[in-house]
Amino acid sequence: MLTLVGLGLYDEKDVTQRGIDAAKAADVIYIELYTNAWHGKDGLEKIVGKKITELMREDLEQGAGKIIDEAKTKDVVLFISGDPLIATTHSTLLSDAKHAGVETRVVHNASIVSAIGETGLHVYKFGATATVPFPEKTGGKLPESVYGVLASNKAAGLHTLLLLDITTEKCMTPNEAMSTLLELEKTRGEKIFTEETDVVVFARAGAPDAKIFFGTVRDMKDVDFGMPPMVVIVPGKLHFSEREFLESRLKGQL
Ligand SMILES: C[S@@+](CC[C@H](N)C(=O)[O-])C[C@H]1O[C@@H](n2cnc3c(N)ncnc32)[C@H](O)[C@@H]1O
Repeated sequence: MLTLVGLGLYDEKDVTQRGIDAAKAADVIYIELYTNAWHGKDGLEKIVGKKITELMREDLEQGAGKIIDEAKTKDVVLFISGDPLIATTHSTLLSDAKHAGVETRVVHNASIVSAIGETGLHVYKFGATATVPFPEKTGGKLPESVYGVLASNKAAGLHTLLLLDITTEKCMTPNEAMSTLLELEKTRGEKIFTEETDVVVFARAGAPDAKIFFGTVRDMKDVDFGMPPMVVIVPGKLHFSEREFLESRLKGQL
């Protein structure tokens, strides 16, 4: 059996009892941390009382067949940050395992995709999500597709959630993401992301020191937002209750 278990938002305190029980009963336990900065691996190993093997990107993207084969004869648990089915890699793993005749199970958890409701923005008014990639992932080219997502969400009055890229060495900062978008604006010139655009930065959702920032790009581009993980949100058309929440409760935090 292959069980995908969500780790929740920040550290081992976010893992559900159902997830811990699945791991305690498993023959093999893996954890995938290359798609997010999640902070509780050592604590989780202590709670579960077993070794948890960390997988690298290639283990899951090219080597998924090995994990699926292993799950034919053993109980395999794979821990994934947030909710396990938010990234397409993990949905593909689940459907490949089902096709291979492996029994599967999913233990859900909170995701950044739901946590963004804490900003006061209505979760149902978000359009497509995009990830702002590091230049080395795009061969040095500006990520035009991110600008495209922003433009079409804006045209539909929808908010845009921008996830920030991560590699084994570094996490993209909101400042780098804003500067990439300002560069794109220079080449595209459609007034989608300018110094006057309002943005929300949600830092460390779920952590004791979680913080929400709101302001124009001009005000926000040099702010030190602290430790990852973080997201940038570009609000679309604001309902008066969303604006009131952001302006009255959050502007003072800058
Ligand atoms: C590929 S997504 C991970 C999605 C995860 N499976 C989930 O459901 O939350 C990784 C990106 O989400 C954002 N992110 C994840 N957890 C976060 C948190 N607790 N606070 C702020 N941003 C977060 C960061 O931009 C990070 O680089």
